Amino acid sequence: MNHPKWVKHKELIKWVEETAALTKPDNIEWVDGSQEENDRLCQTLVDGGTFIKLNEKKRPGSFAAFSDPSDVARVEDRTYICSKRKDDAGPTNNWIDPNEMKNTLGKLYDGCMRGRTMYVIPFSMGPIGSPISHIGVELTDSAYVVVNMRIMTRMGKKVLETLGAEGEYVKCLHSVGAPLEKGQKDVPWPCNKEKYIVHFPEERSIMSFGSGYGGNALLGKKCFALRIASTMARDEGWLAEHMLILGVESPEKEKTYVAAAFPSACGKTNFAMLIPPKEMEGWKVSTIGDDIAWIKKDKEGTLRAINPEAGWFGVAPGTNDSSNPNAMASVEKNSIFTNCALTDDGDVWWEGKTKEPPANLTTWRGEKYDPNSGKPAAHPNARFTAPASQCPSIDPKWEDPAGVPISAFVFGGRRSTSVPLVYQSVNWNFGVYLAATMGSEMTAAAAGTLGKVRRDPFAMLPFMGYHMGDHFNHWLQIGRELPNPPRIFGVNWFRTDENGKFIWPGFGENMRVLKWIVQRVRGKAFALESPLGWMPRYEDIDWRGLENFSEEEFNDLMTVDREIWKEELLGHEELFSKLYDRLPKEFLFMRELMRSSLWRSPKQWGMEPERF
Ligand code: OXD
Ligand code: MN
Repeated sequence: MNHPKWVKHKELIKWVEETAALTKPDNIEWVDGSQEENDRLCQTLVDGGTFIKLNEKKRPGSFAAFSDPSDVARVEDRTYICSKRKDDAGPTNNWIDPNEMKNTLGKLYDGCMRGRTMYVIPFSMGPIGSPISHIGVELTDSAYVVVNMRIMTRMGKKVLETLGAEGEYVKCLHSVGAPLEKGQKDVPWPCNKEKYIVHFPEERSIMSFGSGYGGNALLGKKCFALRIASTMARDEGWLAEHMLILGVESPEKEKTYVAAAFPSACGKTNFAMLIPPKEMEGWKVSTIGDDIAWIKKDKEGTLRAINPEAGWFGVAPGTNDSSNPNAMASVEKNSIFTNCALTDDGDVWWEGKTKEPPANLTTWRGEKYDPNSGKPAAHPNARFTAPASQCPSIDPKWEDPAGVPISAFVFGGRRSTSVPLVYQSVNWNFGVYLAATMGSEMTAAAAGTLGKVRRDPFAMLPFMGYHMGDHFNHWLQIGRELPNPPRIFGVNWFRTDENGKFIWPGFGENMRVLKWIVQRVRGKAFALESPLGWMPRYEDIDWRGLENFSEEEFNDLMTVDREIWKEELLGHEELFSKLYDRLPKEFLFMRELMRSSLWRSPKQWGMEPERF
């Protein structure tokens, strides 16, 4: 089968031909990324019943899609890191010998694209041509994937021009695993009940089979930009992290960029697009990314970050004009909504979009919505895919090939008791320890015991491409090489009172914490020393517009309960023994130091009021 003239990369052509010989598609289409091509593919998806075109007046250029009920989320238990040695994948990843895995996959891929078109999608993670960006090529038999990748990445002909005849790229093979026999009618959401999301870190390649959903299928995102990129970053001395990136502008127009890691379902998109309370006049937040950061050191030794993605693949439920107006504006047009509910006037709805559901909703399952059924109208993991360029808070430098300078790293989880609202690590190494031991309490959505802490080092547990212990060492090494490393902070928006109610209002009010963080970075804010690091006093936080939040409530957010922390340190120990063979030995001493600092009384710390 012929390739277009603009394809010059011989090795890529060979890979495409070899893959086609195995998967046996009816056609091959090289994706050029044009509007005309996108319109044609969207029409194909409408004709095939995968897409419903939304009301052009209400939601221009937008579509709704509904997945098979068995294919609604990432499948962590079917995700594998197939490094040559099991030890290199480490105890937090699923591993199978790469040869054995290729054997298994080879059988599944044989003829798996029969009756379908294989699309070749050249894509750039990051602005095309940036020294921080990298290129991938995804082969997929899903047009839904193509049109989503067009929003989530820079893709098409221009990427191949940059790749040239011999450039390096990551091979991403994807199939929904649903071949069509002659004359067989397709279903709206083809997929296979057997699913594999497989990474070969040494080869820098990805093979995904059986799912059409999100991170399982849009291979630029979690598979490439985190799992494969993290191994590239380890080898090449940079960082690929599960972090949002935002800019904070002060009334004096000083700009400070912050990268922040939170586990899934902790409100990263909301934080990335935060709107400060109006009383905090002159403070502004701008958005670079909401999920992933690639960070490289420049010649001056500054860490510079890009968002490798070009769109938001955000969780829809809970998003509304008060929780995240910027996300709502981002999805006004040219967006794809997967597993949301449909209104009778051709728009979408999800739980929390408005207080009351509109009348005559159709659920994501295509049924008439019954508010008394106890079943939601939209799937809890329903998603929007929207161009980042449509976000009102997008930072003017979001496509700067040089990236933005990072001054602070923030790590946060969902912790009802132990972790204070905000604290600053005393130095880089303790910050790495903080990030390594972070955890999140399970929500109803995650598998496991409700309320139990899942240790999620760097918020990377499901996204690490190599041994987690090596990741800690890598971060320590990065710090050693930086003349003035970014400051590291811990935050927790989720402390609860004795009735289980959140104490902190969160959302836009998080600006108060962010202001203290950026002022600490610039040496403009005071802090008390504590066993965990530096902490603000009540008077160090800007309370304009939230004056009724009392000092007592603030102290409830900031206490470090010694008994709880003794338990917490045991939790660290549990993680450390799991990773012992590659654990930085410094961590053992750091834990001991924390234990002995907790032993000293608050008075000995000179702390008034007593916080622990
Ligand atoms: C995501 C996740 O979808 O982290 O971004 O799960
Ligand atoms: Mn994420």
